[in-house]
Amino acid sequence: MAEFTLKIRRYDPQSGEAPYWDEHTIELEPHRSVLEGLLQAKAKTDGSIGVRCSCRAAICGSCGVRINGQPGLACHTHLDAAAARSEDGVITVEPMGNMPVIRDLIVDMDAVHWKKIQRVTPWLINKTPIPEREYIVPRESMVDVTQTAACIQCGACVSDCLTMEVDPLFVGPAALAKAYRFVGDPRDAEHESRLKDLSEDPHGIYDCTHCFKCIEACPKGVAPMNQIMRLRRIAGSDHHIVDRNNGHRHEAAFGTLVKDHGLLWEAELLPRSYGGDSWFGKFAPAAGLELVASLPAITKALLRGKVTPMGALKPHKIPKEDLAAVQRIYDVIESRDERIELNLYITGTDAENAENPVETVAAAAPSAGDEEGLTR
Ligand code: SF4
Ligand code: SF4
Ligand code: FES
Repeated sequence: MAEFTLKIRRYDPQSGEAPYWDEHTIELEPHRSVLEGLLQAKAKTDGSIGVRCSCRAAICGSCGVRINGQPGLACHTHLDAAAARSEDGVITVEPMGNMPVIRDLIVDMDAVHWKKIQRVTPWLINKTPIPEREYIVPRESMVDVTQTAACIQCGACVSDCLTMEVDPLFVGPAALAKAYRFVGDPRDAEHESRLKDLSEDPHGIYDCTHCFKCIEACPKGVAPMNQIMRLRRIAGSDHHIVDRNNGHRHEAAFGTLVKDHGLLWEAELLPRSYGGDSWFGKFAPAAGLELVASLPAITKALLRGKVTPMGALKPHKIPKEDLAAVQRIYDVIESRDERIELNLYITGTDAENAENPVETVAAAAPSAGDEEGLTR
């Protein structure tokens, strides 16, 4: 047995009082979970602590909290590991972010998380005619969607999504991973309309800022950001969906600038995103309008020395051999006949089928928050 101190953020919005921190000393074996610590504090010292849980086995997704500032499952985090990660040995436990607090550690998942899941039509829309017997799905496709199907809807990714902090309307990592679950499923009939919908939505797939937070947060290795990038590639490269938000054009301009110069030429990015992916893009009326609209931001950046007039006129320079190395990467990728879209769940080859090797599932790549590698 060992003693641990839990510092719990308490808040009851109905009381009119401000949130406060509440410390409890608990005694448990070090390998026990933070959830068990919370339940002991609730049972022995303060029955009013609000905490939600059910399975206690990292399956139901109901015990999502922030432990020492990081989102995760309370039932899947050992007390000793949590204490070791905190600065002073005190384990802080807070409710998840980006969702309103109902009480203490319980957040309103309906108000944010589930609403967003409903936004992406979270069910299979089957193709017709329905086959007389079962619909055989290629093995690789099934393995591919298994990663997103592994989501337990805990909301940890939503809690720490940086885009959701500034744009609460963003569809969000969990819901977009759910969307990939069906876009990656060959039995679904609505791939194109799902992708068009999420591309055209200003809070859809192009709203993600690629910050990796959801990948770090997910206790199940779902890697929502990777699923969002897959949705973008399928939308842009396979279905040729050019969205009115300029998300696809922006990505294309980014890629071309890095290919041509080895580094991003920031001043060219905006006109090319709006006017077309070439140096002449700036002369297109759409680019002109956007440049005029951006003048206050450009002026501020100039005054603060973040950009210089010369820097805007000329691209950054890197050594020739470095530029050649960057361009070789593009050559390799662009020379491929088809895009290789391997899911992280697919690793290695099937040893039992040596004559006809098939990529197979060895293990899901554990996420940063999955200290025991218990992903499915
Ligand atoms: S990568 Fe995108 S979806 Fe994931 S947390 Fe960052 S902004 Fe949100
Ligand atoms: S994607 Fe991961 S973090 Fe997000 S809700 Fe699903 S299991 Fe939780
Ligand atoms: S209690 Fe079910 S995931 Fe933690």
